[in-house]
Amino acid sequence: MTVLVTGGAGYIGSITLRAIRASGRAVVVLDTLERGHRAAVGDAPFVQGDIADSPLVERLCREHEVDEVVHFAAYKAVGESMENPHKYFSNNVAGSQRLLEALHRAGIGRIVFSSTAAVHGTPDSVPVRESDPIRCESVYAETKLMIERMLSWYGRTTPMRHVVLRYFNAAGAATDGTLGEDWRFSENLVPHVMKALIEGTALRVFGDDWPTPDGTGVRDYVHVEDLAAAHVAALDHLARGGESVTCNVGTGLGTSVREIIAVTERISGRPVPHGIAPRRAGDPVACWADVSTAAEVLGWTATRTIDDIIASALAWHTSHPHGHDS
Ligand code: UD1
Repeated sequence: MTVLVTGGAGYIGSITLRAIRASGRAVVVLDTLERGHRAAVGDAPFVQGDIADSPLVERLCREHEVDEVVHFAAYKAVGESMENPHKYFSNNVAGSQRLLEALHRAGIGRIVFSSTAAVHGTPDSVPVRESDPIRCESVYAETKLMIERMLSWYGRTTPMRHVVLRYFNAAGAATDGTLGEDWRFSENLVPHVMKALIEGTALRVFGDDWPTPDGTGVRDYVHVEDLAAAHVAALDHLARGGESVTCNVGTGLGTSVREIIAVTERISGRPVPHGIAPRRAGDPVACWADVSTAAEVLGWTATRTIDDIIASALAWHTSHPHGHDS
């Protein structure tokens, strides 16, 4: 079987690409390299191009005899999406519409899509279930939801089946220390904890007066290699004829910002410089996943711990202080 991996040069895409190859599948990667890194693809077949280029996608599918698609390619910065919504609707939504059209024409019947827990906005209760209210609080989240809706309609009107994976907080690096998340392209907590530790610039903790046990925000951090395994489980599910499904991908456990700092200090043996800053607009107080659907339908559960996330991130950032350019 051959898998077309869109966005396979990005952080989650490149680590998942390895897991897909390790499952015995052939691959072909399509990435613009606007925010991805050619080196992260390694020796996998690679084409530099855009998902919106329908003739290219259709040709790739035919030439490489593609059976399955894993669709990562998207912009993912929440703040940027609020400043420049056109960019997100154009790249994420219109691009995916063109991609789906080409996949349909090429007769592709199975697709795994990267979505986000952010489609729930500030959850009413935790753990968050897939069926809980949908309430996007950013253009970014809305673009992911719109693609979910397109897939749902393709599922009803064509033979194309899908697995939507709603990621919680992807974090950590490849265990072999070769692939990780560049802090220059991320606003997320773990890369910024690493930047504070390594460069000595204070981490800003966005609020310590939240109604949580230690006053800081609580999230569900899932190791990127666990996340990669969820994609393989999703491909396997579709390959055995499984029905379309939407699954949360998290650990089911909540961890606070202070806990992340404490684990980092214990593992590195050094203090993480930090100070308290005002709450960040739009941040929910606490968010973690109900992971029963992924366990029941895909047979997948996360196996790695917060210690694994921090140890792998620390190893990668220490050996790549300038991200993928180092
Ligand atoms: C964010 C996005 C979400 C996206 C996800 C993955 C928002 C509101 N949500 O999730 O849509 O799917 O990233 O890309 O932007 N924190 C600090 N200091 C920092 C950075 C973060 O204290 O410098 C805190 C936050 O307040 C939060 C936690 O760390 O409590 C996690 O933040 P972050 O890693 O940015 O992820 P989310 O906000 O959960």
